[in-house]
Amino acid sequence: MAIRKVVKVGDPILRKKSKDVKDFDENLWELLDDMKETMHSNDGMGLAAVQVGVLRRAIIVEVNNAFLELINPVIISKKGEEVEKEGCLSVGNFRGRVKRPRQITVKASDRFGYDFTLTGEKWLARCICHEVDHLDGILFVDNCLDKKEYLNQNN
Ligand code: NI
Repeated sequence: MAIRKVVKVGDPILRKKSKDVKDFDENLWELLDDMKETMHSNDGMGLAAVQVGVLRRAIIVEVNNAFLELINPVIISKKGEEVEKEGCLSVGNFRGRVKRPRQITVKASDRFGYDFTLTGEKWLARCICHEVDHLDGILFVDNCLDKKEYLNQNN
């Protein structure tokens, strides 16, 4: 395992759409292991492959000590809404309020290519939504209720 460099805002790769994972092989496993180590070394709650410069639809999240890997995740249902402050390892110190579904159901594959469906709420739902957004080139600051504050800090 190795700690990889986290891509920061301003790098155009963060705005690209990630491609589906097709090969559930050693390269993917190494990527996922490295992502976990990178997330832990940065005290993160989640990480998308694009954040280490790999444009593949792979994310990890760790909420309440439960660690999850989701490959090719698709959110198939959303319920309710909730506002909390988020941050992002690619964005720096800024934290801002984002409205997210209170509960989601997501369909994904595990690292071996087996499909599963998972329903999560609150922070688990929030983290998965945040990371899935990364796969489509979206950053939390784009939809942040405190966007003005963010732009003021960064311009
Ligand atoms: Ni993020």
